[in-house]
Amino acid sequence: MKNKKPWPTKKAMEQVYAMNLWGEGETAFYSGNGSHDEVLVKPYIEVVGNFLKTHRSNLSVCDLGCGDFNIGRQLLEYAKHYIAVDIVPALINNNKTRFRFDHLEFRCLNIAEDELPEGDVVILRQVLQHLSNSEVRSVLNKIRAYNYLLLTEHHPESDFIPNKDIISGQGIRLKKNSGLEITKSPFNFKFETRMELLSIPDPNGKGLIKTTLYRVQ
Ligand SMILES: C[S@@+](CC[C@H](N)C(=O)[O-])C[C@H]1O[C@@H](n2cnc3c(N)ncnc32)[C@H](O)[C@@H]1O
Repeated sequence: MKNKKPWPTKKAMEQVYAMNLWGEGETAFYSGNGSHDEVLVKPYIEVVGNFLKTHRSNLSVCDLGCGDFNIGRQLLEYAKHYIAVDIVPALINNNKTRFRFDHLEFRCLNIAEDELPEGDVVILRQVLQHLSNSEVRSVLNKIRAYNYLLLTEHHPESDFIPNKDIISGQGIRLKKNSGLEITKSPFNFKFETRMELLSIPDPNGKGLIKTTLYRVQ
């Protein structure tokens, strides 16, 4: 009989990097065009950098699912302390050798299962979109401990049913004409205020890549 149990998320993400399923770049680990295309990266760094600067670059940042760190490396100067987390051990080891700063730490954690580091701001950029609803729920429960959440998600352009479930891995809800909306059922994420910072058409495919700032508490 076939074993239909999905792969653990760690194995799935390790395979994505080992087989370059998100493409290839100049370094051994490549987190995809979403992490490198300047059309997406430049405005993101600008708005998130501005947000951190309005707090006099005095906030501690936890970047959950930091990937190849092309994004994080450009935000470092605006953070008091920066903790970058990913589930793939070889990727984290590679990042540790490439990026060394006194106020930067890398940790290898499964954000759905492990205790998360303390901080003021959480960055979740194109990470939850790869996770099953039960893992998303588990991460969101822990996000309540932070002051701010900067969430970036890939959505279909128009009308869609949010939060269709997927198996955690390379793909996202777009293939089911769905996208993650954390304030809607079954997550019903509670927040103080919310501001949409960016909505950019995917230059490499379909849909919109949206960044929203939540004041959590
Ligand atoms: C598409 S990449 C995005 C990387 C980065 N946030 C960016 O925007 O450039 C998603 C990253 O999330 C990581 N990830 C997925 N599930 C995770 C989990 N449960 N715990 C920690 N990291 C996870 C993957 O290994 C991958 O590096």
